[in-house]
Amino acid sequence: MKKEYYEKIIQELIELIDEGVYIVDNKGVGCFYNDKMASMEKVNVDDVLKKTFSDAFPEVRNTDSTMLKALLKGEPTLKKQQTYKNFYGKEITTINSTIPINIDGETVAAIEVAKDITDIRRMSDTLLELQKEKTTPPEQRKNTIKRYTFDDIHGKNEDFQIALNRARKAAETDASVFIYGETGTGKELFAQSIHYGGKRHNKPFLAQNCAAIPESLLEGLLFGTSKGSFTGAVDREGLFEQANGGTLLLDEISAMPYDLQSKLLRVLQESYIRRVGGMKDIPINVRIIATVNEPPEDLIAQGKLRSDLYYRLNVVNLQIPALRERLDDVQVLAESFLEKFNKRYNKEIWMISDGALKKLKSHDYPGNVRELQNIMEQAVSMSDNEHVLTEKNLAMSTVSRRTKAPAIDFEKDVPLDEYLERIEVKIIRDALIESGGNISKAAEKLQIKRQTLQHKLKKHKLNIE
Ligand SMILES: Nc1ncnc2c1ncn2[C@@H]1O[C@H](COP(=O)(O)OP(=O)(O)OP(=O)(O)O)[C@@H](O)[C@H]1O
Ligand SMILES: [Mg+2]
Repeated sequence: MKKEYYEKIIQELIELIDEGVYIVDNKGVGCFYNDKMASMEKVNVDDVLKKTFSDAFPEVRNTDSTMLKALLKGEPTLKKQQTYKNFYGKEITTINSTIPINIDGETVAAIEVAKDITDIRRMSDTLLELQKEKTTPPEQRKNTIKRYTFDDIHGKNEDFQIALNRARKAAETDASVFIYGETGTGKELFAQSIHYGGKRHNKPFLAQNCAAIPESLLEGLLFGTSKGSFTGAVDREGLFEQANGGTLLLDEISAMPYDLQSKLLRVLQESYIRRVGGMKDIPINVRIIATVNEPPEDLIAQGKLRSDLYYRLNVVNLQIPALRERLDDVQVLAESFLEKFNKRYNKEIWMISDGALKKLKSHDYPGNVRELQNIMEQAVSMSDNEHVLTEKNLAMSTVSRRTKAPAIDFEKDVPLDEYLERIEVKIIRDALIESGGNISKAAEKLQIKRQTLQHKLKKHKLNIE
């Protein structure tokens, strides 16, 4: 291709993509600046093109400029979050990367790419505000959130009792706690009971699911942000400061980016934090309870959980067994839920029939205690005037799911075909469960030929039990 075409191609390319792009030559003169960047920064393209960086953005101090850093020192800045007010006073948050282009040891240009995450940022702000409401001491709080204590935890199974006793002991200390349990096994229930059963009970209890928030925002959410290099950047306290003196529950800690995990480790070792973009060390005293819903050894092996962080957090280790591994607890739990929902729905169901109990015990609860609780809530709330809960009240499948359906989430590093394969397996498995293991019916449901389904079952090594 002719070299002359390149300029036109770059021009088209940068107008096509959804990110702001700004390219300067070795003298800092703007060669490319797209409309997206112009609308983010609320300047005219013409005020930037063919002007030097310092003329185009006189209000940015030279020492703060990532562009000049790339150009003069050859140092890249990757994925830096910036919050600033544009010319109209609107607060904008972007993720910027600035890189020098090096040819034969000489910096010939610098490129800045910016992604506008203002909307996502607003979402996380709302989250922080909500969290703040939760932090307000109970006496000042208007709408109290559900607080769990050890009295709310039911279960007599031996392994479960081991976990429960350890949790009670943990409540008397300040040690970090690491909880492993599948979804719905009661991790939050345990975490809250430990907090409210200990010395910190009058201090805040905050929870954050690390998988629920975009990676780029998690750091600011945890550690806060500080008036940074840009004019108008905001000062905001993070969850660590909000939870100071109390407990911070970090759910699905393995979803936290790997380098943020090492930052967290440092914070735990040194007991102070520094806000993103800030200079000041702020002392903090926060108890951490971390949870995962897959075995921690697997997560470490897969490179999702740093082993050094795990060992630091694993001072008290709690393993909550899945409900299918302690079916001896089904009755105790079902009865406690019966009592709870009788009160809530003003019903008078006194007992659970043997048949109903058998049905409840023959299920294998991929959703664990939460699922059993839902089944009971539905049964009680929909009942008429009966005093005995029977099989008829129980809306649940009797087909046993011996293999756990894989959780499908948007993992970044899974290749597309593997991801699609997982979805296919999940859909097929659900169809089989719904059709009671009948292949013809399942095939009909999936609108594929029976042979095709059989082929797929073989391919994915799905056995019908
Ligand atoms: N042992 C138990 N006794 C009574 N209720 C329980 C028990 N275990 C769980 N529950 C109830 O089940 C529901 C789910 O529990 P919880 O939210 O603590 O689970 P979780 O492990 O945090 O789940 P997830 O991984 O999905 O966040 C809650 O309503 C909780 O009260
Ligand atoms: Mg939870």
